[in-house]
Amino acid sequence: MKPKVICHMLASLDGGLHPSRFTASPEGGKAEWSSVYERVHGELEGDAWIVGRVTMAEMSKAAAHEPAQAGTVQRPHHFARRDAGSYAIALDGSGKVHFSKPDIGGDHVVVLLGRDVADSHLAELAADGVSYIVSETAEIDLAAMLDVLGRELDIGRLLLEGGAGINGSFFAAGLVDELSLLVAPPSMGGRATRASSSSARAAWRAGCT
Ligand SMILES: NC(=O)c1ccc[n+]([C@@H]2O[C@H](COP(=O)([O-])OP(=O)(O)OC[C@H]3O[C@@H](n4cnc5c(N)ncnc54)[C@H](OP(=O)(O)O)[C@@H]3O)[C@@H](O)[C@H]2O)c1
Repeated sequence: MKPKVICHMLASLDGGLHPSRFTASPEGGKAEWSSVYERVHGELEGDAWIVGRVTMAEMSKAAAHEPAQAGTVQRPHHFARRDAGSYAIALDGSGKVHFSKPDIGGDHVVVLLGRDVADSHLAELAADGVSYIVSETAEIDLAAMLDVLGRELDIGRLLLEGGAGINGSFFAAGLVDELSLLVAPPSMGGRATRASSSSARAAWRAGCT
């Protein structure tokens, strides 16, 4: 069954999505607002959270490397764990993100990949203890991916946590059930304003407020 998808985001008053660039304000800066974001993340009680390729690369920071041991590559999916308390999921169609360990902050990593991803990348992920699901269609069918996450990992509540790229894909596919948007008083300015507003426009179109 499809997990319930809750889009949880923190934006500045002018729509910026980069807390590290928020201006100082009497209500607090990056640390205070990130802490509020994390508190609400906990209160939303997701079984898992999902981010786009760009955001996961910022978290993982690992470089490409040879698999520590060779093994048979499994398709369409490989689950290193099915008993994690929480899962950290990345939407990485081309297989660009690498990992040096199988978890992010204790949450087990699962990568959603495109059909054309190389076997060598799957071997690297498996050797690093990371789980993955490979799309069976040319374009990733997000609804089908959600079904697999629900069926195989018993994920019932999924927090969609940005950035704007992945949020737009989920809103466009009509897969977002709820929006949790924290608007922080600091502003950010610059071109990032467009990033958040594109997500917001998609949200209005999807009728999710
Ligand atoms: N304020 C907040 O609450 C918050 C939360 C999260 C992130 N952020 C910030 O947002 C920034 C990143 O945002 P972003 O919009 O640039 O990137 P993003 O959403 O993290 O990742 C976008 C990438 O995900 C992949 N992707 C998205 N939809 C896909 C689909 N339907 N099929 C296959 N692949 C898909 C694509 O990777 P490819 O390009 O490889 O195809 C796409 O370029 C970061 O700097 C991060 O710090 C802010």
